[in-house]
Amino acid sequence: MTVTIVGAQLGDEGKGGVVDLYGDTADVVARYQGGDNAGHTVVHDGEEYKLSLVPSGAVRGKVGVLGNGCVVNPETLFEEIDALRERGLDPDVRVAERAHVILPYHRALDGIEEEEKDDLAAGTTGRGIGPTYEDKAGRRGVRIGDLLDPEALRDRLEYVVPQKKALAEEVFGKETGEAFDIDHLYDTYREFGERLAEEDMTVDCGTFLQERIDADESVMLEGAQGTSIDIDHGIYPYVTSSNPTAGGATVGTGLGPTVVGQGEVIGIIKAYLSRVGTGPLPTELGGVEGQTPDYDPAEASADEEELATYIRDEGGEYGTVTGRPRRVGWLDMPMLRHAARANGFTGLAINHIDVLAGLDEVKVGHSYEFDTADSASHQNAARSDDGDELLTMPPTTEQWGRCEATFKAFDGWEDVDWAAVAEEGYDAIPENARTYLEYVSDELETPIYAVGVGPGREETVIVETPDE
Ligand code: IMP
Repeated sequence: MTVTIVGAQLGDEGKGGVVDLYGDTADVVARYQGGDNAGHTVVHDGEEYKLSLVPSGAVRGKVGVLGNGCVVNPETLFEEIDALRERGLDPDVRVAERAHVILPYHRALDGIEEEEKDDLAAGTTGRGIGPTYEDKAGRRGVRIGDLLDPEALRDRLEYVVPQKKALAEEVFGKETGEAFDIDHLYDTYREFGERLAEEDMTVDCGTFLQERIDADESVMLEGAQGTSIDIDHGIYPYVTSSNPTAGGATVGTGLGPTVVGQGEVIGIIKAYLSRVGTGPLPTELGGVEGQTPDYDPAEASADEEELATYIRDEGGEYGTVTGRPRRVGWLDMPMLRHAARANGFTGLAINHIDVLAGLDEVKVGHSYEFDTADSASHQNAARSDDGDELLTMPPTTEQWGRCEATFKAFDGWEDVDWAAVAEEGYDAIPENARTYLEYVSDELETPIYAVGVGPGREETVIVETPDE
């Protein structure tokens, strides 16, 4: 059986902790999309490991696979593996030969294009993710398998690099260096290929995983980022360039949809909202300069700013990869209803309810009031009983930006000894927090499998274990 872990919001929902927890019973943990734009912190035997590419299960002795849907920067991959080895671990990481390679010119172009896009910039992590997926779709990418085949690598680079160089120099007027130099790239990436071969790291991902499943092993499929920054189902163009949604788990690993569909699909939800990057956010509290559209700190409500800072600090809402402060907001239920449908969640893990402890009142954006100019495109959207409010996200980001959240308020809950709560179980969670959790579960018609009550994986209340 497979267990697929999907972010239900904008990424940073605390997937790592859940993967870590449920991954304990898994034999293999495979990532199916994204690259070193993901950041996760794993705490193991009291040691903290920060990873952006290597699947977190590899820290715990599981086989970690980077699926064909991933984009792999070999430099990051080996840096992370070497750092883990230096700390006494022996990670077993496999990489799909069909996965695409992030090359230095992808990173360079990511920065150049973001600068050029101005208001349309997605606020990317600058890791070259978008340009690499562009080349994949443009059929001019370099794949992991090519690094093992000197002739194929040379051919691919000779075709693509002059185009990238011309783009950077002639379209964007930038100077280029060795990131755009065929010989340099060939030598460097051949070496990476040799190391991949020497360490026997490459696999035909679908076959590899299916064999493990046929041998009765349990496979966890780990999504990075989240549903609302999915390239198809997210807030385009402020999205990442892959499919974090559950469909991506099949395309990005080579396992059939029926295989993934027979397993569990667990939606990971943070009890509030946070994001790095630009674009609308109807339930946002306060704002962050350079990210919140039209943000003017002088005009922001002092109460909201205080609340936002409180949540940001309590929740450690600063990017793992970039260190940028994240924008924060109340839970957005239309976003979650959209995610529940797009992913077909079979269970939910709701994280970070401890972060909201101590607030008098906790709100959620229950629905949206929408601009009547948009009503035609909202024809088949779920609405409230009186038809005046939207219950799911509209299809365009511009329409989403015109939605105003209608809030529901819940009584806050006290700060308690969360480690004790985790040990005692669900009924030990403060009553008001349970009311909040059950509202989310009822609205999404999906049972709660786990509740995160602190940063460590022990600080999780387990209600249901997927493969038991
Ligand atoms: P990219 O994935 O670096 O191209 O960035 C595209 C958008 O996705 C930006 O808004 C990023 O902030 C966001 N993003 C990418 N990776 C993550 C992540 O792991 N967590 C949250 N947001 C992310």
